[in-house]
Amino acid sequence: MLAKLLLVIGAVLALSACVSQNGEDLAGDSPLPVPSCDTSHVTYALTVAPLLQQNCSRCHSSAFASGGVDLGTYAKVRTLATDGRLLGVVNHAPGFDPMPQGAPKLSDCDLNQLQQWVADGALNN
Ligand code: HEC
Repeated sequence: MLAKLLLVIGAVLALSACVSQNGEDLAGDSPLPVPSCDTSHVTYALTVAPLLQQNCSRCHSSAFASGGVDLGTYAKVRTLATDGRLLGVVNHAPGFDPMPQGAPKLSDCDLNQLQQWVADGALNN
C-alpha cells in the first residue's frame, strides 16, 4: 500500500516536472507571435500598387483623378514618389494635403513599405 502511494507521488512529481519543463520550452522556443512588417521584399507590383489600389484608387484612378492626381500607372506614381509628394501626403507632412482624404492614416507597416520602396529608387519591380 505504501509502495503504491509512493509510486503515485513519484509519478505526480515526475509529471509536474515534465509539465513545467514544457512550459519553459514553450516560452523559450515559440514566443507569442509578433505582428511583423516585411520591408525587405517591397516591390511595385506586389506591394505598392495593391496598397494604392486599396487606399487611393477610388479617388485617384486614370479615369477619375481627384486634384489631377492619377495613381493608376507606374509612371505617374513614380513621378509623385520622386518629387516627394507621395510620402508627403501619406505621412501627413506639413504643406501636403493629408491622404487618404477622409480616411484614417495608413498603417505604420504600409508607411514603412512605401518609404522603403521610394528609398530603393521607386523601381518598377
Ligand atoms: C476620398 C478621396 C481621396 C482618397 C481616398 C485619396 N485622395 Fe488624394 N486627393 C483627393 C483630392 C480631392 C485631392 C485634391 C486636393 C484636395 O482637395 O485636398 C487629392 C490630392 C492628392 C495629392 C496631391 C496633393 C498635393 O499636395 O499636391 C496626392 C499626391 C494624393 N492625393 C495622393 C493620395 C494617395 C497616395 C492616396 C492613398 C493613400 C490618396 N490620395 C487617397 C482625394 C482623395
